Amino acid sequence: MHRRLTAPGALAAASVLLAIPASAASGSPGAPGIGDPYYPAYGNGGYDVSHYDLRLKYRPATDELEGTATILAKTTQDLSRFDLDFLLDVSEVRVDGAVAAFATSGEHELVVTPKKTLAEGAQVTVVVRYRGVPSSKQAYGFTSWHRTPDGGVGANEPEAAWWWFPSNDHPLDKATYDVSVQVPDGTQALSNGTLQSTSSRAGWTRFNWRSGKPQATYLATLAVGRFDLTTGTTESGIPVVNAYSRDLGDNAGAARASVERTGEIADWLSGYLGPYPFDALGGYVPNTNTGYALETQTRPFYSPRQFAGGSNTSVVVHELAHQWYGDFVSVAGWKDIWLNEGFARYAQWLWSEHEDEGTAREIADYVYASHPADDAFWTVKPGDPGPENQFDIAVYDRGALAVQALRDELGDEAFFAVLKGWPREHAYGNATVSDFVRYAERVSGRQLGALFDAWLFQPSKPAASAARTAAA
Ligand code: ARG
Ligand code: ZN
Repeated sequence: MHRRLTAPGALAAASVLLAIPASAASGSPGAPGIGDPYYPAYGNGGYDVSHYDLRLKYRPATDELEGTATILAKTTQDLSRFDLDFLLDVSEVRVDGAVAAFATSGEHELVVTPKKTLAEGAQVTVVVRYRGVPSSKQAYGFTSWHRTPDGGVGANEPEAAWWWFPSNDHPLDKATYDVSVQVPDGTQALSNGTLQSTSSRAGWTRFNWRSGKPQATYLATLAVGRFDLTTGTTESGIPVVNAYSRDLGDNAGAARASVERTGEIADWLSGYLGPYPFDALGGYVPNTNTGYALETQTRPFYSPRQFAGGSNTSVVVHELAHQWYGDFVSVAGWKDIWLNEGFARYAQWLWSEHEDEGTAREIADYVYASHPADDAFWTVKPGDPGPENQFDIAVYDRGALAVQALRDELGDEAFFAVLKGWPREHAYGNATVSDFVRYAERVSGRQLGALFDAWLFQPSKPAASAARTAAA
């Protein structure tokens, strides 16, 4: 499912002129990108995926992944050929049952040419058979597949899917998922959502996961390794499944002391953000040395490094806040990243207040004061940071200062109404920063253009807000 990011047809029209083969005059090729100016090759044009069915087998000893992806999609134009984003080795592609031609192109394009042009609005079934060693594949010089001593993990932002399944890899095209993975007995395979069933045969165990609400491709995750699973239920009745590598060493206690609070924290967040939007919940900690955590839908990924200093419920709050700000409502384009990171950071500040470790206001004042006006921190514009600064600390901290500035301007009643109302407003969909500004103006009845311009779009330190100056 997706909404168009930019004017449709610009890229497609160009390719009609350049590349349309005479024999396929009734259709044009789908664009190789969905139209995101930060990442022109990410996602694709011409179709819209509703469901991914991934049936996989993984060998931890050799990092070999093989299987079949069945992709249900609807065309959005007459389509002579289309792209998927993928890096592993493809052996066969079928479109509506018929063998299709395919080729690789660019850094991560799989170009599929069906026997016959697909009509606009048609439901199509694409089957891709593939295998490969994900850790051996790079795009743009990096890999998002993290090998572990006992398996591997696919988790990164914005790129994660290319290493384990072919997709329309952009948050604008959300879909539901069934992920079924065979691994050697004694090893576990983890993914998003609910573990529907497991079965064992001839030395292999199959794990069947279902993520039944629209999910962006970068929020899909696969982890294989030796894990201990814990289960529970939140007070609001959501089933929780957490998983910990059996090999977390000295970090094992702190990891569990943090991630086991997932249910409590999700319930606490729902007081600010509205009911938890999915039907499954949890967290997983594989044995990787990765430097970041990720809000993989329903079941965030945590690196053991986050727990090296002891318990860290703050990172759990951050990733769970993303379940509303990032997953339930996803960015329409990657320039909208403030909608994710500014709010997930602000939720950490609210949690600090809840835990009596400093109020949101105190943290905001500290962060504001700790960056002098000539600090490069203020040159990053959280509302349009550029792809190179997408995850700069300023997107998080200056981004959360922008949220505090909104709170100062609106007062608590209107501010918390906006904070809770926004996710519902774009339930399971996508939104832009401008959508948010308009929404906050509508709910509060105030003009907020100048405030957001200063906090999100100027490459300089904004003046402290009037409310903060008065409080100081
Ligand atoms: N959204 C992630 C978080 O919650 C950030 C992931 C950053 N990814 C990266 N490759 N640096 O913090
Ligand atoms: Zn984040």
